[in-house]
Amino acid sequence: MVDIPNRPAPKPRARVQAMKEYHPPLGSRDSLRLDFNENTVACSPAVRDVLSGISAGDLTRYPERESVEAQVARNLELNPEQVILTNGVDEAIHVLFQAFLEEGNELLLPVPTYTMYEVYASSTDAQIVTVQAAKDFKFPYQALLEAITPQTKVIALANPNSPTGSIIRRDQIIAIAERAPHAIVLLDEAYFHFYGETAIDLLASLSNLVIARTFSKAYGVAGLRVGILAASAENARWMRRVISPYSVNSVALACIPAALADRAYLDRYVEEVLAARTEFEAALDALSIRRWPSEANFILVHIGGKHREFVQAMNAGGVLVRDRSNDPGCAGCVRITIGTREQMRRAAMVLNNVVSHMREAKEAEA
Ligand SMILES: Cc1ncc(COP(=O)(O)O)c(C=O)c1O
Repeated sequence: MVDIPNRPAPKPRARVQAMKEYHPPLGSRDSLRLDFNENTVACSPAVRDVLSGISAGDLTRYPERESVEAQVARNLELNPEQVILTNGVDEAIHVLFQAFLEEGNELLLPVPTYTMYEVYASSTDAQIVTVQAAKDFKFPYQALLEAITPQTKVIALANPNSPTGSIIRRDQIIAIAERAPHAIVLLDEAYFHFYGETAIDLLASLSNLVIARTFSKAYGVAGLRVGILAASAENARWMRRVISPYSVNSVALACIPAALADRAYLDRYVEEVLAARTEFEAALDALSIRRWPSEANFILVHIGGKHREFVQAMNAGGVLVRDRSNDPGCAGCVRITIGTREQMRRAAMVLNNVVSHMREAKEAEA
């Protein structure tokens, strides 16, 4: 045997060493999962039919995404060269940041917002500049405009935003893109279907706008990992240089046309969620739980100092909800995904019990 000396392993870049590992919470299978903003029922039966027809032969070949990209482009009324399918919006964010962010650049980020913008920006050499929303969690429009500098290279905006559910008005999006022509404005429309307003038509006039969409939420195929980057043909060309040609697998690609075609299924699910949201808001109000207005399939609520106990008690009652207390400005906040009315009535019952117990315990302490 050759005697190989045991040397220390090489270290990654300093920026990577400084990063924290990101571990999403694990969910128990039997619980009602209201912690990931997923579709809480299922995808279209048409997608399941495609899945059951996939053969071993289909899996031997490397995936080819061009024809599906063309179908998605048609669905969005864009040209095929403007659309890139990605391994979820997460990969879209990663690819965009890899393509555009370098040392000396700033990523401008209103917070609180979706965690992965910061995670992926941390692995680049750019600086992250955050703009804190006020207590009402409305989009901090003026403060964001004022934070634009010549170094701003990417502005990442989720519309609707997570975890707050707040929105950015169309005129605000236009003004930001015009104020920062030297920066890419990433508008993440992951929750578009629940809101109903898009800025995708603005791609024709704003050359620095990039829009992201996902199949993970309303479409109910988060496990397939498919996202969309929609941009000008020129910006799309830059991002195509960075993305792996095979990052969207062939099973996912086979399913997307069926998901797109079953428009009725999507509309029914969205309608159900919106009805459930209204009902659940009333349940929260009846319990005097503070909540913020949401245009998405989730609601941010204020639980206070006992947020951890609250999340655990909901979990014990079979309902998983997400503690967002560590998000900037969100001390004591919990995010609850909205599913169907039936599911949310169950969630409201558990919520009632948990809150009553917590209030009784507090009174007993006093
Ligand atoms: C604003 C926002 N963008 C993107 C994503 C992730 O989308 P995907 O599953 O397509 O990676 C999420 C998921 O929670 C999100 O909240």
